[in-house]
Amino acid sequence: MEGQYPWASIMKASVVLLFLLCTFYYVKGGKKFKVDVKRTKVYGPGLEPDKIVYPVRYFFIELYNAKGNRIEKSVGKSFTVQVEGETTQGTNCRVWTQILDRYDGSYIVRYRTYQTCRKLLTIHVLYNSQHVAESPYKISGPVYSEDCYCPIGDISSWQELVSCPTSYEQINYDLKNFSEVDFEPVLKEAAKRFNQAGSRSFCNYVIKDNKVYRKCYGQHVGFKMFMDNILHSMLRKMYLPDVEFIINLGDWPLVDPKVKPLIPVFSWCGSEDTADIIMPTYDITEATLEMMGRVTLDLLSVQSNNDIPWHEKKSQAFWRGRDSRRERLDLITLAREHKHLINASLTNFFFFKDEEDTYGPKEKHVSFFKFFDFKYQINIDGTVAAYRLPYLLGGSGVVLKQDSPYYEFFYHDLEPYVHYIPFKRDLSDLIEKIEWAASNDDKVRVIAENGRQYVQENLMPKNIYCYHAALFQEWSQRLKSDVVVREGMEFVPIKENEKRFGDCQCHLLNRHDEL
Ligand SMILES: *[C@@H]1O[C@H](CO)[C@@H](O)[C@H](O)[C@H]1NC(C)=O
Repeated sequence: MEGQYPWASIMKASVVLLFLLCTFYYVKGGKKFKVDVKRTKVYGPGLEPDKIVYPVRYFFIELYNAKGNRIEKSVGKSFTVQVEGETTQGTNCRVWTQILDRYDGSYIVRYRTYQTCRKLLTIHVLYNSQHVAESPYKISGPVYSEDCYCPIGDISSWQELVSCPTSYEQINYDLKNFSEVDFEPVLKEAAKRFNQAGSRSFCNYVIKDNKVYRKCYGQHVGFKMFMDNILHSMLRKMYLPDVEFIINLGDWPLVDPKVKPLIPVFSWCGSEDTADIIMPTYDITEATLEMMGRVTLDLLSVQSNNDIPWHEKKSQAFWRGRDSRRERLDLITLAREHKHLINASLTNFFFFKDEEDTYGPKEKHVSFFKFFDFKYQINIDGTVAAYRLPYLLGGSGVVLKQDSPYYEFFYHDLEPYVHYIPFKRDLSDLIEKIEWAASNDDKVRVIAENGRQYVQENLMPKNIYCYHAALFQEWSQRLKSDVVVREGMEFVPIKENEKRFGDCQCHLLNRHDEL
């Protein structure tokens, strides 16, 4: 039979082959990974730029196939996004757009507007020139740039608009000792305690009628600029309640809980044996305000910019940094003893200069994005908490975090073995933990992914503003004394580019005419 009908077996073989090819295609590059432009999700605050102003607007794209399943791989540069609109003068408004590939089938789109776009703004999200989800997004209201002074209402109406949480556990904890604050004695006590011979650097701020005033104490007060920047950015968007507070400009938290009366001091870093009120660090805040500007490493960019997939990353721990704590030197010793597990070097000597011969030579900087060529990212305290932790979590590696009494505003949300792998303060179990990670790759990969997810859900620009807003709101309710501009305070005006300021014209829409 076979001999008589050779075509039949050839046909049969072809059918089988075709079937196999189709299955292969389906699994490898076919339907499973075929992007369904209508099911693909596009969401985030950047799609409502007329409602909410951020220095950089951002939204997310998540790929789905026709069956409604997530596609978890990059489709390269198949997306394009155009944001276009008109100024009052009828010219195109200048918008800079970026698409950040997270290399897992999701993308972050962000754009900075350099002018107010008064007439219809359109956001086109295209996949191989097909519109995705509800694209094109047509925004009819004016889209103000970050420079505009256009407060929309009081803090709570802004919180509602942005759907911010109004309460945070960390804030409740930090403020638990301050239910009714009379600021006059607080200030006197602070000046007495912290300002002996200018030993500490801090500023006393007053927000009154949506204007900023301050007086600083101590020798190193340059960091006041970070506080000015976030306050200005907030009062461009909302009317802050009249408040007065003290911000510590130094690294270390200041407030000894055993010394009474307890002084309320805002700080960027907390510790278990102090009682400061914690705000997002100047670093994360500045990266929020200056992204797509002076700052290149921020919580959005760190999620992109390294396309090495997990299984191709080196199964080693990586670390670079300066010598700001003894354990950092100890890490160098460990790395030398376990070259196959740890790649660590100091990039600068300052605190232990006399030990440079032993722990040097210092190595040149490695771009932060390159850190994620390695799977395991070591986080060791510097003088206080290492402010790189949010970036390490947001990147594509897994974090090994040194046990530490120091924390930033969000650390208490994090759980060991969920968001990071802990190791002892004296590094005595670090090698063991790296070896554990190396032999539990699947678990570790989930921890890495949870860390990233945490960042995407909790440390985005929106979240940084929300935390500040909740803190000022809570604080204002506990402040019982009248807020007055004190003698010797300096008015800190919002620096506006006059021309752009004129562009805004939002005063025409406002109930309070602040111009
Ligand atoms: C450590 O990592 C850096 C940066 O990736 C690399 O240039 C260097 O060769 C590594 N060192 C060792 C000993 O593998």
